Amino acid sequence: MRRRDFVTAAGAAGLALWTRGLFERAAAASHSAIPFGAAVSDGPLQTDAAYQKALIEHCQLLVGEGGMKWADLRPSPSQYVYDQPDRLIAFAEANGMKMRGHTLAWYAAMPDWALQLKGEAETSRELMTHIETVVGRYKGRIPSWDVVNEALSDDGPRVGLRDSVWAANLGEYYIDLAFHTARAADPAAQLVINDYGLEAATAKSSARRRAMLDLLRRLRDRDVPVQALGFQAHLPGNEEIDKDEVSRFVSDVKDMGLDVLVTELDVIDDQLPADIEERDAIAAKRVGALLGAILDVTRPTAVVTWGITDRYTWVPIWYKRADGQANRPLPLDEDYREKPMMRTIKQAVAGA
Ligand code: XIL
Repeated sequence: MRRRDFVTAAGAAGLALWTRGLFERAAAASHSAIPFGAAVSDGPLQTDAAYQKALIEHCQLLVGEGGMKWADLRPSPSQYVYDQPDRLIAFAEANGMKMRGHTLAWYAAMPDWALQLKGEAETSRELMTHIETVVGRYKGRIPSWDVVNEALSDDGPRVGLRDSVWAANLGEYYIDLAFHTARAADPAAQLVINDYGLEAATAKSSARRRAMLDLLRRLRDRDVPVQALGFQAHLPGNEEIDKDEVSRFVSDVKDMGLDVLVTELDVIDDQLPADIEERDAIAAKRVGALLGAILDVTRPTAVVTWGITDRYTWVPIWYKRADGQANRPLPLDEDYREKPMMRTIKQAVAGA
């Protein structure tokens, strides 16, 4: 859809959202060496002009915070509800931004009916049909997909395959199936395996890095078409980044012929000091350490934060602060002012 058509369509929906010119200039000005982007929340995209303006000013690519998850797309087996992704992709294209897709196979955000899938035949048929349909629909318009999200378990010191309806019915082979199907549906798209908890200087994080490398090796040995590893990078603010180990890990991943990217960056600040300056400085430091550890080895294909402003963030759903202060996980504060984290990211993506 052309920009003008979309503005008209949006206007018809009662949304006088875009001011021509101003936003176009901002988007054109922000060409950086490594594409920077953010996850977008559908509600404010429709109602908050300052939010749209911030996305256009800072981002070269966007991904839906929801909308592409099974629970959003597939309320029933026969339905595909594309409202949210269509809105977002129209906004991205109208403003010269690229898209990422999130996500095709995950244990969470599943509609009840899909959790009832039973047996190899039914489960693989549904997974394949879903991926063929959704990736096929956006072929050529979504150049990068989180095909499998959070494959690793998180329930003890031994990191294995995470429980899901996919794993229960298909075992680890669900990963192969998801990637092969996505590859067939869009041969040009970057196919990503995405996970969290890979960055910290903790025994747990170290075990997750090892488990991810083992998984990637098995996938490579089976010729599964994975192109890149996504670091979700929801960084626990109270944990140091293990710069050396992350660099080594990235270099092992690169040695397998894979790219890396940062897909969901933010800093979980529930355990950080209340003082805002101090808190923001620690958050920026964590982000700088992670991006530095990656950049020491390679250029990530993208850096994406999970939201752009502290005004709209998922963090308080799970990590509310005990002192009642609002979380500050993202690069812009709740009034869209740049925080130290934004300056750190800009330096990193500019190749500094
Ligand atoms: C979160 C969204 O941000 C929330 O709005 C939603 O309620 C739950 O999911 N890892 C992921 C993302 O891969 O999909 C999650 O997004 C955050 C953690």
